[in-house]
Amino acid sequence: MKKIAVFTSGGDAPGMNACIRSVVRTAVYNKVEIMGIIHGYNGMIADDFVQMNSRSVSNIIQRGGTILKTARSEKFLTAEGRRSAFENLKKNGIEGIICIGGNGTFTGAKIFFEEYGIPSIGAPGTIDNDLYGTDFTIGFDTAINTAVDAIDKIRDTAESHDRVFFIEVMGRHAGFIALSSGTAGGAEVILVPEAKDDWKKLTHYFSGKNKIHKAFSIVVVAEGDEHGGALKIVEHLKKNMPGFDPRVTILGHVQRGGSPTAYDRVLASRLGNAAVEALLRGETNKMAGLINNNIILTSYDDAINKTKPLNSELLRLVDVFNV
Ligand code: F6P
Repeated sequence: MKKIAVFTSGGDAPGMNACIRSVVRTAVYNKVEIMGIIHGYNGMIADDFVQMNSRSVSNIIQRGGTILKTARSEKFLTAEGRRSAFENLKKNGIEGIICIGGNGTFTGAKIFFEEYGIPSIGAPGTIDNDLYGTDFTIGFDTAINTAVDAIDKIRDTAESHDRVFFIEVMGRHAGFIALSSGTAGGAEVILVPEAKDDWKKLTHYFSGKNKIHKAFSIVVVAEGDEHGGALKIVEHLKKNMPGFDPRVTILGHVQRGGSPTAYDRVLASRLGNAAVEALLRGETNKMAGLINNNIILTSYDDAINKTKPLNSELLRLVDVFNV
């Protein structure tokens, strides 16, 4: 391969820039020309390509967001959009692509290969950590540290007022952010979509015969929880528990920003490098991930369709600590 391109797609995640840097420098090291595509698949369709070199990625390893911008592309879902994307890749002489993103990003890359034979390798960039084939996605560690920092701050005010706080964190349909940030933040209850016993947990903690008389408590709720998030859960509890007056904080997009942690920078550097090397070796339709600290390639099919389980040991600890 003489020329490849890199883009970021889907929700941005801290560490994407470190990954772009790694991809670009690995390409240059291997004497392969590299272009960046702006705004993910939308940029591919709009012919928004930029030539990159080693210096284009200077001083970005520490920056959140993505210098290549990102988007969730509606147009790429259409056959017409993908045709334009292919024509632009051809016009720019691109022979292979590195895509940094999540589920939707890899689904697009897989269809694109099936239709046009453009080889690609993915690097998992999403705060949600919801991809099979990697123990950690790029951005997850930073996001949970941001969430824990917020939980620590909320603890101060919760303790001062003897209040219960429900803190909602991101994660889309998965509970990885909730479980890790809740455990690290010392939450009394953690509600995740993967466990189906929310009311049992809440009743046990707040109103059952085992009620624990703590002056203040933290409940961490994953946004994808089956009962519709923190606000809906609190609304329901208030109806059934007169006098219950908790506060709700929804952390939202603050979890997506900020300077990546050292862990995310190292992970992004390793996976970006592995992705380019795999593409140049002739691999395609695979995601570079980290399993037990080893770099492993997993097919897009598995990364997209298989479910990565939550750590059941951590789930169990929440109950152990409620004594
Ligand atoms: O996938 C990352 C993520 O932040 C999810 O946790 C969240 O559900 C979603 O993106 C929010 O997307 P948007 O920024 O498009 O509102």
